[in-house]
Amino acid sequence: MTQRTHARLWAVALLAAVAIAAALVLAGCESPSILRSQGSAADEIVTLAMWVFGILAVVLFTVWGILVYVVVTGRRRPPDKASQTEGNLRIEIVWTAIPAVIVTVLFVLTVVYTERISIPDPGSQFTAVGRQWWWDFEFKELGFKAPNEVYVAEGRPVSIDIMSADVIHSFWVPQMGGKVDMIPGHVNHIHFVPLATGSYLGECAEFCGVQHGRMRFLFVVVPPKEYSAWVADQQKPAREPSGSDAIAGKQVIGSVGCGSCHAIRGTELKGTFGPDLTHFGSRGGIAAYTLKNTPANLLKWIQDPQGVKPECKMPNVPLPLQQQQQLVAYLEELK
Ligand code: CUA
Repeated sequence: MTQRTHARLWAVALLAAVAIAAALVLAGCESPSILRSQGSAADEIVTLAMWVFGILAVVLFTVWGILVYVVVTGRRRPPDKASQTEGNLRIEIVWTAIPAVIVTVLFVLTVVYTERISIPDPGSQFTAVGRQWWWDFEFKELGFKAPNEVYVAEGRPVSIDIMSADVIHSFWVPQMGGKVDMIPGHVNHIHFVPLATGSYLGECAEFCGVQHGRMRFLFVVVPPKEYSAWVADQQKPAREPSGSDAIAGKQVIGSVGCGSCHAIRGTELKGTFGPDLTHFGSRGGIAAYTLKNTPANLLKWIQDPQGVKPECKMPNVPLPLQQQQQLVAYLEELK
């Protein structure tokens, strides 16, 4: 083997090691990470992933070990003394049997852990609808919609019907469970137990158009008591504005056509194409968590939705600055 071939081999080995280290570091830091599971289904997935990583790591380091051994011992041996192994039946059997065993073990582990994910289905509690590019969470029996931010109770099985209003999306809360495709005209389903309170980012895991990357939601796990309080709050119609700007804002929103897409329960706005705004002020994000929900960001969004999120379905509506500020004041009061 030439000096250059050796150098190349070492470079490849080094690159692979760096790539693996980087992947591990990123997996540990980036939120949401599947490795920090907080749901019953995600727990099984991460345990299975650890088994698979472990087995593959043994394979990887065994192969690297043999490679290094051969490279090191091979350079000391004169070229004409290399042993000929062609047609060695024992070796051929061994290197066929080992992969067969590995694949069988991986298969059995996958079946076992996939089976463990399934728990008794408590019956659908709400429907998650994927839209370009936001999430609608419809609590039909309870009479409200909670776009882009949904609450569930800790320790209680949550059961979700999953569908799409336009193209194929994919529902995914990495720390809760696996991905489920959202398919137009077809209802899919997921159920699992959220195991720890917290706010978990959900995202779309299927390319669904230009703003696929800005299609996020918040999956909030709270104690059962807090969940009941959240439901009671969401069921209420929109509160009446109190500040003078907010009162003016309510007039503006009723007169400039927002109601053709948006609904605010308790007002004349009854649109269904865009997110329900009844409790807009209580949510943490704007435009499917493209922006944090602050008055400054909301003003930016109202002034130029096409600049913030190009090709989103919300058109730029030219309004005087004063009216824009009144809209912000009204919407932020809708807690
Ligand atoms: Cu919706 Cu990607």
